[in-house]
Amino acid sequence: MALKTIILIGGPMKGTRFRPLSLDLPKPLFPVAGFPVIYHHIEAASKVPNMKEIILIGFYQAQEDLTKFIINVQHEFKIQVRYLQEYTSLGTAGGIYHFRDQILMGNPEYFFVMNSDVCGDFPLVEMLEFHKHRPAGTFCTILGTEATRQQSLNYGCLAENKDTSEVLHYVEKPETFISTTINCGIYLCSPCIFEPLKRIFKQNLEENYNFDFNTPNKEVIRMEQDIFVPLASTGKLYVFHTTRFWSQIKSAGAVIYANRHYLELYRDTHPDRLAKNGEGKPKVIGDVFIHSSAQVHPTAVLGPNVSIGKNVMIGDGVRVRDSIILEGAMLQDHCCILNSIIGWNSTVGMWSRVEGTPNDPNPNKPFAKLETLSMFDDHGKLNPSITVIGSNVQVPPEVIILNSMVLPHKELSGCCKNQIIM
Ligand code: GTP
Repeated sequence: MALKTIILIGGPMKGTRFRPLSLDLPKPLFPVAGFPVIYHHIEAASKVPNMKEIILIGFYQAQEDLTKFIINVQHEFKIQVRYLQEYTSLGTAGGIYHFRDQILMGNPEYFFVMNSDVCGDFPLVEMLEFHKHRPAGTFCTILGTEATRQQSLNYGCLAENKDTSEVLHYVEKPETFISTTINCGIYLCSPCIFEPLKRIFKQNLEENYNFDFNTPNKEVIRMEQDIFVPLASTGKLYVFHTTRFWSQIKSAGAVIYANRHYLELYRDTHPDRLAKNGEGKPKVIGDVFIHSSAQVHPTAVLGPNVSIGKNVMIGDGVRVRDSIILEGAMLQDHCCILNSIIGWNSTVGMWSRVEGTPNDPNPNKPFAKLETLSMFDDHGKLNPSITVIGSNVQVPPEVIILNSMVLPHKELSGCCKNQIIM
């Protein structure tokens, strides 16, 4: 049996809620728990027996960071990884249809499709087992999880036949309540999914066959609206439930959340990736990742839920909690970083405090997901959130930066609270 995995990595116009971080690096390569977002997808996929190839589909221009990443993961996971570039955004299924010959090469029995803007403890082996036991001719199994009634409206929602797990009804971001089971953006498809893809592709072309240059791209196919909606209730679409950790990663708050959960997973999967206490080492509390090239003063206190990137320098008495410190950043003596992301090559001055506010799921509501707050409230004020310091920013000594977003290459002159510094 041969299997493949497609990872949808989007392109430069995607990930807008991720700015300013996505200004420097494609969002799928942003490091979470020490490794790029899609490294975690690739690692999970490579563990499924008989996985032959991982194909990244997106509309980023091939660029150095992506090329380097691909070389590294191929080497590390000993699996073929390729990037196929769409000439423009073709939607969440258009690229899959466009590159069908490449996907079907080698006759894979099934292929996973993974959105890159989600994180989780993906139960791929279990999904495969489930899918194999669906009726012949099944097109696709969707990974589903539970959300609250209110939050479900922000996701793709599925209603199912509880006895057979068949999807009876699929609505993307419904206006009224449909179901608390939401689409996780992880699918397992049989090659026969290309039948409905072909049908929709042709239908789109025929319906839009005119000479109007303003018609949006006719080759766009959206997996959710164009494929899942009509396939519901045809006996060809199923849902597999997970209760393991899963979240979308659309905002800085979600990155901090994903960081915490991936670090927690390392306790079982990769204890070697977690920093340990010891003589001459900084004090570590809970789950912390420290890149081997980082220099951390032994009087610093890190954790819980902290990731320290390549070549980071951390001074005397520094305190970091629930944060990500990106490559080349410098945290000078006695500064304090809480619920924040410190950008590449930025400096935080002595005794300064950089602090954000997490928007974690409500622990009292079962199945609550991360809140997807908009950036501003009804009065136009910035909602409290994680503080993000862009790349190459200088935070002076003895200031407080609270719930703010600082764009790259700024030299701050004083304190700031609930601000976007452009
Ligand atoms: P929003 O709430 O509007 O962001 O919608 P969503 O959560 O349904 O996300 P969306 O469908 O835009 O994207 C889901 C995943 O598919 C993400 O990982 C995107 O990067 C990826 N994606 C979206 N559009 C495209 C596309 O045109 N081509 C490719 N290759 N990937 C895409």
